[in-house]
Amino acid sequence: MANPEMAGECFIETARLILRTVTPADVAGVASSWKLDEGPIPLPEAERVIQRMRANHAQNRPGKIVHLCLAILSKETNEFIGWCGLDHTQPADADPALFYLLKSDDWGKGLATEAARALLDYAFTRMELPSIHGGAAPENLASKRVMEKIGMKYVGLDEEGGYAFTISRKEFLDS
Ligand SMILES: CC(C)(COP(=O)(O)OP(=O)(O)OC[C@H]1O[C@@H](n2cnc3c(N)ncnc32)[C@H](O)[C@@H]1OP(=O)(O)O)[C@@H](O)C(=O)NCCC(=O)NCCS
Repeated sequence: MANPEMAGECFIETARLILRTVTPADVAGVASSWKLDEGPIPLPEAERVIQRMRANHAQNRPGKIVHLCLAILSKETNEFIGWCGLDHTQPADADPALFYLLKSDDWGKGLATEAARALLDYAFTRMELPSIHGGAAPENLASKRVMEKIGMKYVGLDEEGGYAFTISRKEFLDS
């Protein structure tokens, strides 16, 4: 299909990272990284994870994301170092939630900020989403800081006492 967004495929390159949808050929990388620092999952489980992700991705369209989950690969090592994406599977959510997770070896290098910023750009310019929200647990000040650094607007505490953020396409494009 000519339009990769319509085919559920996504490939984003930043200075140090590749963010991309995975294929069945990525089973070893998915197995090694899916649970981050908890260690690898069995290959058959990784195969099921990939199938589930690809089924979700097939439902995404410009203007409407159901669930997008991208592997984060280091360009330097070509290894899977984490995951990021957008989730709009919660019926109560007015817009998709941003998420990002990295193996702890790679914390503190600005990589989550680099990934999240590129994902916002993709969400607003390629997927044409009107707005995105994000949340950081009360103890997760690193995640809160990432949302601040990528220009999301703090809107207060959520029901669990976590930090709630939002950003609209207009705010992102004007920034
Ligand atoms: C949250 C997470 C993604 C951050 O990744 P990262 O690559 O280390 O983030 P960055 O380096 O881009 O930015 C982290 C910022 O938080 C700051 N920070 C880190 N720990 C902090 C703390 N305890 N208190 C305040 N700020 C803190 C860093 O100094 C940095 O800000 P700065 O650039 O202004 O100095 C990573 O810790 C992680 O994967 N955690 C587990 C999963 C998770 O919680 N995901 C978020 C939920 S969606």
